[in-house]
Amino acid sequence: MSHEELIARLPKVELHVHLEGTLEPEMAFEFARRNGIALPQSSAEEMRAAYRFTDLQSFLDIYYEACSVLRTEQDFYDLTRAYLERAVADNVRHVEPFFDPQTHMVRGVAYHDMVSGIRRALDEARERDGISSKLIMCVLRDLSDDEAMATLRTALLDAVPIDGIGLDSTEVGNPPSKFIAVFDFAGAAGLHRVAHAGEEGPASYIRDSIDLLGAERVDHGVRCGEDPGLVGRLIRDKTCLTVCPFSNVALKVVASLEDHPLREMLDVGLAVTVNSDDPAYFGGYIGDNYRAVAEALGLTEDHLAELAFNAIVGSFADDERKTELLAELKKATE
Ligand code: HPA
Ligand code: ZN
Repeated sequence: MSHEELIARLPKVELHVHLEGTLEPEMAFEFARRNGIALPQSSAEEMRAAYRFTDLQSFLDIYYEACSVLRTEQDFYDLTRAYLERAVADNVRHVEPFFDPQTHMVRGVAYHDMVSGIRRALDEARERDGISSKLIMCVLRDLSDDEAMATLRTALLDAVPIDGIGLDSTEVGNPPSKFIAVFDFAGAAGLHRVAHAGEEGPASYIRDSIDLLGAERVDHGVRCGEDPGLVGRLIRDKTCLTVCPFSNVALKVVASLEDHPLREMLDVGLAVTVNSDDPAYFGGYIGDNYRAVAEALGLTEDHLAELAFNAIVGSFADDERKTELLAELKKATE
């Protein structure tokens, strides 16, 4: 079987994708038109041409600006549905997307509208496409812990449930310790906990996300190699790392795909997964990421199957669903 064929057949689980990061420029223009909002660019091509980043912040500035077109329940439904259509094409079987309510609430969007639109699309995909899901709300680490707590309370009081809490946005200077109370509260309320760490921030942020925030998975985590003691611990505990190769190249976390540590991370036994992060901005969806790393790093069939396995095991799907997905993986690799 060719790598291409194997990758197409693998039952994929995506654990690190920001729904706002799936906003393709054409869709942004459509939402802008129907909501009567002006965008700084005059066409989708011009918007895409502006996607040249030097670091995480240079990306976030553009990403938050484009988010201004998202206003209604229907916008969030359409955005999520479009992502799910891409996911079906990539044989994604389970997904745990992030959304950033604070980005939209400052513009007057009601929390209930966004979560309802997203859930409607996710529930429909379960029925229509057989894709299961868990929904993770991220709080923005460059805003205060009080604002994060207020957002969490809003989410917990809403009729539409979420499954987990995450931590994203500007990493350096906003350490995990800032959000201990928020994550304690989320854990007590029964939510799963994840956090972006070790993307631009130091390895100590990875350690602290686990120890101080109770993070069950680490989003990115690619800088763990700077602390060999931490690497040993992540291997022993089988801590899932949601690595995003295209994102790491686009935001200059690594110099090129060929220089990406993903293969070494797999070979030392880290529970690495491959994800798209913000596919509309970084050059491709999960299948594109799999194909590109397989090529750039010369991954074997075993590596590819391991990536898919790690994502199933590291997901928050219930045991019955994990068993189904593992059976699909076995079949795909036979
Ligand atoms: N890192 C931090 N915040 C984000 C990212 C990311 O990769 N994508 C969207 N928000
Ligand atoms: Zn991310």
